[in-house]
Amino acid sequence: MEILVADPSGACYGVERALNMALEALDRADGKENVFTFGPLIHNPIVVAELEKRGARVVRSIDEMDGGTLVVRSHGITRGQYEEAQQRGLHIVNATCPHVRRVQQAAAQLTADGRFVIIVGEKGHPEVEGILSHAGSLATILLDVDEIPDLGEGARVGVVVQTTQSPAKLAEIVAALEKRGYDVEVHDTICAATRKRQEAALRLAERADVMIVIGGRISGNTRRLVEICAEACPRTHHIETSDELESAWFAGVELVGVTAGASTPREHIDAVVTALGDIAR
Ligand code: F3S
Repeated sequence: MEILVADPSGACYGVERALNMALEALDRADGKENVFTFGPLIHNPIVVAELEKRGARVVRSIDEMDGGTLVVRSHGITRGQYEEAQQRGLHIVNATCPHVRRVQQAAAQLTADGRFVIIVGEKGHPEVEGILSHAGSLATILLDVDEIPDLGEGARVGVVVQTTQSPAKLAEIVAALEKRGYDVEVHDTICAATRKRQEAALRLAERADVMIVIGGRISGNTRRLVEICAEACPRTHHIETSDELESAWFAGVELVGVTAGASTPREHIDAVVTALGDIAR
């Protein structure tokens, strides 16, 4: 049985960076001071449990942090939350992904230029709420052309995009804005990491007899990989750890494909590949 891992797959640059920064903060604190993350650092319960074992505390509001270090997640926080953390005297380790930071800066720049800012993204998503907080009051979040505000012909509008949105969605919104006669400045801030992982997973799923997708069950991007793989390869299984592999899945199989969501560290992929090698023997 041949085992192939999709390339790329697993943790993206921003997630690896945030994880390393959290581990460094925990090493520095050495159990003597609190290290907090605002919500789980990444959507992977195994990694979050490992961080908690090493002393990290997941909190849901800045009020719960009573001194120590706050590690900001890769998709960032709002300006208000950042300022509140500073006022509380917390030491801030800002692990906001540089790609997300770029969207925040673009939103701020468009606002400074006097443009109404349209953020193409999901309302309520922490990354998008963070971007909105950098845009000021003349801004809105939308994913549907019907939600485009009526700003009058010739209105100056700036567009930024949540990093994980699709290019097709951005194009649809921009076309609708131009049709309204708005003067539109577009910053395409989509991060290619998600798209590249999806394309690589699909290429492999089209050839594989069985596909294994590794990642948190609550991770949206992992679930999307499962859907994409299952369309091309009906024998697709979603697992969080190698313990969940069942040898019966691989009877008569020649090629097993492996992929992983953007919050799955490399070691988890390696552990699954090793376990698959044992099953193949
Ligand atoms: Fe950053 Fe892109 Fe990952 S925005 S967190 S590198 S998906």
